[in-house]
Amino acid sequence: MENYSKRVLVTGGAGFIGSHVIRRLLKHYPNYLIVNLDKLTYAGNLQNLSDVDSLPNYRFERVDITDADAIRAVFANFQITDVIHLAAESHVDRSIEGPMDFVMTNVVGTVNLLQIAKDYWKGSDNHVFHHVSTDEVYGSLGDEGLFTESTSYDPRSPYSASKASSDHFVRAFYHTYGLPVKMSNCSNNYGSHHFPEKLIPLMIHNIQHNKPLPVYGKGDNIRDWLWVEDHASAIDAIFHRGRVGESYNVGGLNEWTNIELVKFLCNLMDEKLGREIGESEKLITYVTDRAGHDKRYAIDATKLEHELGWKPSILFEEGLSKTVDWYLENQDWVEKVTSGSYQEYYDQMYLNR
Ligand code: NAD
Ligand code: DAU
Repeated sequence: MENYSKRVLVTGGAGFIGSHVIRRLLKHYPNYLIVNLDKLTYAGNLQNLSDVDSLPNYRFERVDITDADAIRAVFANFQITDVIHLAAESHVDRSIEGPMDFVMTNVVGTVNLLQIAKDYWKGSDNHVFHHVSTDEVYGSLGDEGLFTESTSYDPRSPYSASKASSDHFVRAFYHTYGLPVKMSNCSNNYGSHHFPEKLIPLMIHNIQHNKPLPVYGKGDNIRDWLWVEDHASAIDAIFHRGRVGESYNVGGLNEWTNIELVKFLCNLMDEKLGREIGESEKLITYVTDRAGHDKRYAIDATKLEHELGWKPSILFEEGLSKTVDWYLENQDWVEKVTSGSYQEYYDQMYLNR
């Protein structure tokens, strides 16, 4: 245990972004012990890490972040030196259906981790607690402007309210107890291993299977999309070189309306599936809008670029093409995550809209 230069607890490592973060850490830092702590909810899948889980410096612990005794035991058993906290309930539509799981995991679970890290590290500042958060805490933009780190918090969905609350607790632990925290607030990610309830993987899945493509409202809401591996590289930079007590926005300056994006995916997949161009667009179905649907998100990541030299590495069109290829080539993964309660959820969320 002593031979590792850091023993990093990554929460939510079996999820979409967490699995990319773990893969990157294992590749770049073989002298770290990486402990993946995950409850394995519907969104967590150990298959996401099947290419790296036999590495000698990787461990997995199935634990709920609200379980204080179990978390304390993990800190003690692995002598945890640092935390990268990603575990969360992450889907806005689910938070509208039932906010309480979001309060429990995102708020109570985060405070539980903060409290245990504070007690275990006993005031020593030779540690990092990196909290991974979202741009949704800033609310919704009009046609102009970008979110900066000093934009006031204005969360509007139960999901973003729970993430905003967790951000406030992270800052409170820094100011009150001197816990060495760092924070990042990122825009929408896309890439491999993304659960097919979110816009891009859901559309890929439905285009492939000739199912309706549910576009909320008029499809004119705007999101700023970032390649998930670029988010992982930003977390790496902030975790290692970011200033303690600071927040960093992460985003790709890559704004698309939902309908433009869905049409782009339709054409891309028509090409890849050998369909006539325009065929998949016929599947587009406008459905009832999301309640309280935030109009536009767009991130100013200047601070991260200037202080830490981070930049996105890949163009959206190229990243989307790679993403579609990954889904088409990994049908066993898709079948695994869409079995069980997925169809029930899908029917309830989309077909009744
Ligand atoms: P995800 O839903 O794919 O994965 C979440 C993971 O957390 C899953 O493996 C799940 O099993 C685990 N988990 C959930 N509840 C838990 C609990 N109580 N205890 C332990 N583990 C639990 O989410 P994601 O999209 O990978 O997001 C990861 C983090 O990044 C979240 O904090 C999210 O708010 C943030 N974020 C996501 C995006 C995005 O576009 N997806 C953008 C910015 C920030
Ligand atoms: O901005 C960062 C956030 O991005 C993260 O914090 C969240 O965890 C992540 O889920 C994501 O939230 P969004 O609500 O923006 O992502 P989602 O993929 O659910 O929706 C993207 C846009 O597409 C949004 O405007 C709603 C719309 N949409 C979504 C789905 C699932 C549709 O039109 N149809 C759909 O079926």
